[in-house]
Amino acid sequence: MRIPSVLLLLATACSAAEALPDHVTFTEHIAPILFAKCAGCHRPGEIAPFSLLTYADAKKHAKQLAEITTERTMPPWHADKDNPAFLNNRSLDEWQIALLTAWQRGGAVEGDAAKLPSAPKFAEGWAMGVPDLELKMPEAYQIPPEGRDTYRNFVLPLNFAEDKWISAIELRPSSPEVVHHVLIFLDTDGSAAKRDAKDPKPGYNGFVSVGLTYVAGWAPGAGPLVLPPDLAWRFPKGANLVLQTHLSPKGKAMQEATSVGLRFAKEPPPHTYTTVQLPPQFGILNGIQIPAGEKNYTLRDSFTLPIDCDAFAVGAHAHYLGKRMTMTATRPDGSKATLLKVSDWDFAWQEQYAYRERIPLPKGTRLDTEVIWDNSAENERNPSKPPVPVHWGIASADEMGSVTVGVVPRKNEDLEVLRAALTEHIADVMIDAAQHSLELPEGLGKKLAPVASMLKGFDKNGDGTLDDAERAPVRTLIQFSGFPRQMLNASP
Ligand code: HEC
Repeated sequence: MRIPSVLLLLATACSAAEALPDHVTFTEHIAPILFAKCAGCHRPGEIAPFSLLTYADAKKHAKQLAEITTERTMPPWHADKDNPAFLNNRSLDEWQIALLTAWQRGGAVEGDAAKLPSAPKFAEGWAMGVPDLELKMPEAYQIPPEGRDTYRNFVLPLNFAEDKWISAIELRPSSPEVVHHVLIFLDTDGSAAKRDAKDPKPGYNGFVSVGLTYVAGWAPGAGPLVLPPDLAWRFPKGANLVLQTHLSPKGKAMQEATSVGLRFAKEPPPHTYTTVQLPPQFGILNGIQIPAGEKNYTLRDSFTLPIDCDAFAVGAHAHYLGKRMTMTATRPDGSKATLLKVSDWDFAWQEQYAYRERIPLPKGTRLDTEVIWDNSAENERNPSKPPVPVHWGIASADEMGSVTVGVVPRKNEDLEVLRAALTEHIADVMIDAAQHSLELPEGLGKKLAPVASMLKGFDKNGDGTLDDAERAPVRTLIQFSGFPRQMLNASP
């Protein structure tokens, strides 16, 4: 029998309406959402401004909860919906948002106490379980009540007598409110320890990380950093751990002494990985030069993978002017995959996204990144009012912008091929930016003038650009400096 389509429509409309319970209560419907999706940050001692563990807590904020989840401001999650599935997705679905709204409209009722799920258990101390090794800053660093944000580098000696494989890292700041984010590095040549020794207070200021090997980024609320079971970080013998910590004053004098928990891998991992950052963020030669008032300043970068590999995680980085970033993969058979799409970038949430399933990227796949900045007065997050020209730099008011994907080569021996291609790409981006700077009248152009005039010496036919043959020796020179290689972090 054919069912009239109008009836079908009615049926779906009814089932959607019926799906929302008549009496939405805290104990039965709301507590499970708050416990699972909010309490990680909204509990005493964590980064959120109030707790959401009890009926009283939730009722007090009922209207705000409905509004902020409908706007999708909370829970913080900035990846667009049409991304690959992420393991660490903390966003709410439509159904959960509808429940929060219905609960508030229905008078934020408590409900049957017997239906209340048991409160979430948060590990005292470590979310990762007891670490194999625990480190702590020997002395707390004092953060004044007011003033500029600082980047402070804290050096923690590891004293490993042999190379170690690390499968998980957890950071526990003593004052999470002041810690904006932390970049974790390894100091393998003692240069960070030397700089630390020169500064009488704990750690040393600055951002420049030449000589350090990047391990991972972390922000409060993110939980422990855990690599998939077939991967691990190698911490070489004699290395120090460096926590490059972005600290923001919070209106009262505070102190920070971060603890670090490490888990050792049971055995050396069967696979290795490396990161591919597009465009590479190595310094002023990146070429970011955003005119004041520019609403859609766009940079693109592409890189073709020379080996078969699989992507396992992705992240983006920019400062306040960043607006949108995407990375897509186009495979040799023409099929495409989105690796990351963020249309509402927020500097406050430097997220690492872990794919639920690895994304196949066969040899010959082209990765394309686009980053868009908004340096107009309409950008509420613009730190300069009125807007000023902005170029690449380490301060929050300068800019950076990139998408970084973590890839696992299918054959371990291919890693070197990928790294060689990446260092060549980095050299090429440098050469392009220096060439481009010749056309810039001021700002970045002036800073890059010495590099650009050096490049002129390589322009044998004097046509104003470096063709492939002319740039070969420049690439070799840049690669010889060792600088591009320091940009790559690989697990071995
Ligand atoms: C990863 C940490 C984190 C999670 C998870 C989280 N919050 Fe928040 N929340 C914060 C922080 C931090 C703030 C303070 C404002 C800010 O920094 O954006 C905040 C602020 C808020 C505010 C006040 C906003 C304002 O404008 O004053 C509300 C309401 C809120 N959160 C609700 C929720 C709800 C509901 C959930 C779960 C569905 C949730 N949050 C999950 C970290 C979190």
